[in-house]
Amino acid sequence: MKTEQIKIFDTTLRDGEQAPGYSMHLDEKLRMAQQLEALGVDVIEAGFAIASPGDFQSVTEISKTVKTATVASLCRALVKDIDAAAKAVKPAAHARIHTFIATSDLHLKYKLKISRADCLRQIKEMVAYARNLCGEVEFSAEDASRTDLDFLCKATETAIKAGASVVNLPDTVGYSTPEEIYRMIKTVHDKVPNMDQAILSMHCHDDLGLAVANSLAGVMAGARQVECTICGIGERAGNAAMEEIAMGLRVRHDYYKGIYCNLKTEELMRTANLLATITGIKTAPNKAIVGANAFAHESGIHQHGVLANAETYEIMTPESVGVKKTELVLGKHSGRHAFAERLKELGYDFEEDKIDQLFGEFKQLADEKKVIAERDLIALAESKITVRREPKTEWKLDNFVVNSGNLMSTTAQVTLSKGGKIKQEVALATGPVYASFAAIEKIIGHKFTLEDYQIHAVTEHRDALGEVIVKIKDKKGMYRGRGVSTDIIKGSILALLSAVNRMVNDKGE
Ligand code: KIV
Ligand code: ZN
Repeated sequence: MKTEQIKIFDTTLRDGEQAPGYSMHLDEKLRMAQQLEALGVDVIEAGFAIASPGDFQSVTEISKTVKTATVASLCRALVKDIDAAAKAVKPAAHARIHTFIATSDLHLKYKLKISRADCLRQIKEMVAYARNLCGEVEFSAEDASRTDLDFLCKATETAIKAGASVVNLPDTVGYSTPEEIYRMIKTVHDKVPNMDQAILSMHCHDDLGLAVANSLAGVMAGARQVECTICGIGERAGNAAMEEIAMGLRVRHDYYKGIYCNLKTEELMRTANLLATITGIKTAPNKAIVGANAFAHESGIHQHGVLANAETYEIMTPESVGVKKTELVLGKHSGRHAFAERLKELGYDFEEDKIDQLFGEFKQLADEKKVIAERDLIALAESKITVRREPKTEWKLDNFVVNSGNLMSTTAQVTLSKGGKIKQEVALATGPVYASFAAIEKIIGHKFTLEDYQIHAVTEHRDALGEVIVKIKDKKGMYRGRGVSTDIIKGSILALLSAVNRMVNDKGE
């Protein structure tokens, strides 16, 4: 059978990051970009360079870090946007400008207030302008699925003539059905005279829950790039979920005629877990492919079948998406070598001094917990990951004392250090976390509101590590922090301090 590869274009860090609750800090985006590269995505859309100085910096830093994948920046079909995108992706080994303009009559009339002729002129001029600044240009016809088909063919032809090597036809509002998408792609593919000089791409939103089905219908009709995100995060109901696209093609290669992508699907679970760790938003248990229940068989009949032959109820192996059957454990007698090896197996490439530091924390944890599971190691390792962050003077926990009970007010005394200076404060409140946070607010002398607080046990059993995620807000923005400890008050303080350090560094304090 003749097989063909499709390119996977990840937009977790752009369309995904636009979704409420999913915004990421620079170091988190860099960490995610590294993992996306390990997963084997072909293109990483790193941001929308002109949107903010933070977005510009993220695109630039990701461009410097990523080695094999292409790095793209989104931009409107406007000179100032394209200039910003070109500048931001310049350091990339493989750079792409991704420029777009809407093509549907609805958008032309009410949003852009231009005619079809104006739209074609802008495509021609701006794609050519972008092509002069960057070797690779992708053009997107926003709201393509609601665009008159003849006009969409004209827009595609114009973009290719002006130098676009990828033309993306999004279902921007998630309105279409798979049959309609098939027809759109097949028509453009077969009718556009210069189609042999570019590839077609799909970008589907999930407003009707059809994003993956629509993307795969586009692939069947001739699209050779799919734009998607980890766990389908994205604007409104989200984008097509990358893990579903990849496993759909892999499991049903018979149906999809051998069309494949280059993802290392064994990295899918790790990537989804990383996204959840970074954003503090847990993957839904029933999420296809990477949800906690995706391979759990609860009913007796199913369990019986799976034990007799896994294929009775499993259409793919857990290992093929990175779920391990047995979790290898470490304990307090494990040496540094075994510890470092396990970190490497888990995909962490730390410098020796970081490993020493982590090993110290591991030993301390092993004193508190009999068995250290992989999930504990991941929680420890993730709390140490800072990629390309300037070393800054930060608030650190020195010590804390909390007095609490059901017949008294709670008091917390917290001592922090920063740049060699020690500061201590006491606060009274209705609970230990509240009191500790109030003491910290007094020490740092900066008002903030607590927007979200989540705590969960990393593993089962009473001695589990507690992982705490906090979100705080001041006038300038929202800051997230994460802390892990077997003591949930300490974990909460560490989480708050990581958010506080982001907040004060952002203000240059
Ligand atoms: O949904 C959409 O149309 C987009 C484009 C800008 C690519 O995100
Ligand atoms: Zn989109």
